[in-house]
Amino acid sequence: MAIIAPSLLSANFLNLQQDCDMLNQSKADWYHLDVMDGRFVPNISFGPMIVEFFRKATDKYCDVHLMIEEPEKYAEAFKKAGADNLTVHIEACKHLHRNIQQIKSLNMHAGVAINPHTPVDSLKDIIKDIDLVCIMSVNPGFGGQSFIPHTIEKIKQLKSMITAQGLNVKIEIDGGVTLDNASSIIAAGADVLVAGNTVFKSENPMAMIEKLKSL
Ligand code: DX5
Ligand code: ZN
Repeated sequence: MAIIAPSLLSANFLNLQQDCDMLNQSKADWYHLDVMDGRFVPNISFGPMIVEFFRKATDKYCDVHLMIEEPEKYAEAFKKAGADNLTVHIEACKHLHRNIQQIKSLNMHAGVAINPHTPVDSLKDIIKDIDLVCIMSVNPGFGGQSFIPHTIEKIKQLKSMITAQGLNVKIEIDGGVTLDNASSIIAAGADVLVAGNTVFKSENPMAMIEKLKSL
């Protein structure tokens, strides 16, 4: 059974309370919170202030995906906002190891995200220091895009890297996850499924979460 992490980016921002209540009653495991700065990605979403509101709305694990440059400037603010995990992009970090140490020293779990063009191999000197790898299965910036099929190959590569070293690192897949492709994503070795549109644009989000969870 995979960890299901609905992406609140696809929620109704005019009525977040309703979506949070739904998630809290659902089988969703995590809140996936997408932070975008308009520099690393061509879109702007929300920052620590909104994360703090989500923190107050739920006891579930808050998985914060930072699609921002210079994440070191904001790590402390996200800790104060109540993040359980911070995931930074390998492509956005000149000093990735330092960024990871900072997140750890703030007592959060640390994740590294890789864009579709970034090889799994580029993780080999950081994999021992992190708790999660987020493999982007779309180009980050927007919800509702189509899953890039080559991701399946990357999941398998990452899974064997992790198993070979006997590590306890979660594999998270982010972008274009649907009921149709979720089983093959899990079969390839994924532990965490992020789902935005598939959950929030479905007629019955709670039932959709349950279906994803039952795979
Ligand atoms: C994309 C974000 C994703 C996105 C997922 O940049 O990181 O978390 O919101 O949305 P769907 O599941 O709709 O692709
Ligand atoms: Zn995300």
